Parts: sequence; C-alpha cells; structure tokens
Amino acid sequence: MRSSVLLGAVLPFAQAIRIVQSNDDGWAEINARTFFNSLSAAGHDIILSAPAENQSGKGSSDADPTTVDSDGCEFSSCPGGSPATGSNATDPRLNYVNSFPVTSMKNGIDVTAPALWSGETPELAVTGPNVGSNVGIQAPFSGTIGAAVHAAHTAKIPALAFSGVSGDPTAWDQATPIHSKVYADLALNLTSTIIDSGAPYLPDDVFLNVNFAEVTDTTCNDASQFKFILTRINTGILSDKDVEWCGSTRLPWEVDVVFLRGQCYASVSVGDANDKTTADATSQEAVLEKLKPLLTCL
Ligand SMILES: *[C@@H]1O[C@H](CO)[C@@H](O)[C@H](O)[C@H]1NC(C)=O
Ligand SMILES: *[C@@H]1O[C@H](CO)[C@@H](O)[C@H](O)[C@H]1NC(C)=O
Ligand SMILES: *[C@@H]1O[C@H](CO)[C@@H](O)[C@H](O)[C@H]1NC(C)=O
Repeated sequence: MRSSVLLGAVLPFAQAIRIVQSNDDGWAEINARTFFNSLSAAGHDIILSAPAENQSGKGSSDADPTTVDSDGCEFSSCPGGSPATGSNATDPRLNYVNSFPVTSMKNGIDVTAPALWSGETPELAVTGPNVGSNVGIQAPFSGTIGAAVHAAHTAKIPALAFSGVSGDPTAWDQATPIHSKVYADLALNLTSTIIDSGAPYLPDDVFLNVNFAEVTDTTCNDASQFKFILTRINTGILSDKDVEWCGSTRLPWEVDVVFLRGQCYASVSVGDANDKTTADATSQEAVLEKLKPLLTCL
C-alpha cells in the first residue's frame, strides 16, 4: 500500500484522514472517480461505495442490495449477473452496491471501511460531485444529499455533498472532461479546508450542500476563477436570522448564487441533517469560522 508518511511530507495537507465517498450517478461516473483520485493523491485513505447504476433523484430511499440484472452495471462497469455488492478487480477501494445512494453510503461505512481499515470507520463522508445541481427545492429528492445526510444524521460522520451544474454522465474510462477536473479541484479545496480546520469537522447533525456554477470550455474553466459564497438552501423569507456575515443577517439563496448571477461561484449552504433544510445561525457560525479563509462576499 501507499506510504502516507512519505506523501504527507510533500503535500500541503496538515493530516491524512479516512474518507468514505458515495454519489447517486453511479460508481463508474467520471466526476466521482476524478474526485476520488484527487483525494487519494492528497494522501487520504479513501473508499468509494456508490450505486452500481444511476440512482439520480432517489432521495433517502434505502433497500437491501440485489444481484445485478442482465445488463450489468452502468457503462458496462461490471458484467450482468454480478453479485449485489462488489469491487474493482484490482482496487478494493472502488466498490459498487446494487441499490440506492443511502444504501451504498451505509454499506461503505458499516461493511467496506472496517474491512479495509482493520475495523476503523470513516472520519469524513463526501458525495458527488453530482452531475447537475442540487439546490433549493431539488434538495429533498437528491440522492447526493440523501447519502450525505445518512452519514451526518444516522452514522454521525460529518458529510459534504458536492454538485456541479455542467456536464453529461460520462464513463470513468473516458478522457476527463473539463467540468470534472474543475469540480474535483474545487471539492478538494473545500474538503482540505474543512480537514485543516481540525475535528470536529462540522457541528453535530450538520452537512454542507455545495454547488458549483456552470463550466464551459471558455468560461469558469479553472478552479482559480471560482469564488466560494456562504448561502442558504431555501430563501429564508420567514426564517430566523442567519449568522452575521458580509454585513447582513440574511445569507444569499444558493439558487441565486449558482444560477442567476452568471458568475464563477460555488455556493456553500450549511444543512440540517434532520430535515435537509438550512441549519440555524449557531451551526452556520461554526462553519463560517472554519471556512473564512475560503469565503468571499457577493
Ligand atoms: C441518471 O438519470 C437522470 C434522470 O433519470 C438523468 O438526468 C441523468 O443524466 C442520469 N445519469 C447517469 C449517470 O446516467
Ligand atoms: C478498475 O481499476 C483498474 C485499475 O485502477 C482500472 O484500470 C479499471 O478501469 C477499473 N475498472 C472499474 C470498472 O472501475
Ligand atoms: C482554494 O480556493 C481559494 C478561494 O478561491 C483560493 O484562494 C485558493 O488558492 C484555493 N486553494 C487551492 C489549494 O486550490
């Protein structure tokens, strides 16, 4: 296996930790694989445990995995009739679960992680980057958010859900599209900032819903062009005050930041893992303290 000690000496990370990753586009989608490779290259112990098939829009559904049908896993990434769970033939860190996003996250935390890590469990959970946004009213239906919320709420593992506006579903063995590269760079930046801020990585029962604006060949095509903005999941017209930030006690709405502004923005909403709504000002404040080096005002 890799030597974390040697990697740690040359990479800019304070510490390497154990991370479990899932998504809802399926274990063989290239956004997830690109981010997996970045986290691995940064020295972290990373396990991917994601659906065998596209399970977009399945929210918090959960059911025992079943034998893969005769069509095989998505993008022919496993043969028809494969077992209900399985891993890449040469890399046991890459795992499919033939069920919902929540089920794959659960299997990653409860079964695969302790098996590969001598009984140890993940210190952090990440999902995505999803192909397509998960903002506002999309949140309750999102498998990307569903899997993150399972980690944060049920398994008590801090969780970061990532989604990007651009791109079509792409197989893991194709050339890496520009959006996958940019979204993985941005997701690694935020993940590293959270890790470097020290444990506890997030307040109890909180997840972060992170969305990246459109990337094209000529616009927002490098992570350095992006600005991270602290946002809300819903507009908050009738809600209690948000944390005071950028001269206001009402944070911007993530939909506005990611879609309506037409700029290279990444929205970061502090989510309540009980109900997938915006977390209260106290939780926002704790996250703000951790992410201040990254955040900009609109
Ligand atoms: C998954 O299905 C959704 C809707 O059913 C579709 O929009 C999306 O592109 C699909 N993703 C993959 C990875 O096939
Ligand atoms: C399995 O891993 C090998 C080595 O990393 C890679 O070449 C292959 O494409 C992977 N296949 C799948 C389905 O992940
Ligand atoms: C992370 O993002 C911030 C804000 O955009 C940027 O200043 C910083 O250089 C990025 N760090 C890395 C390692 O990419």
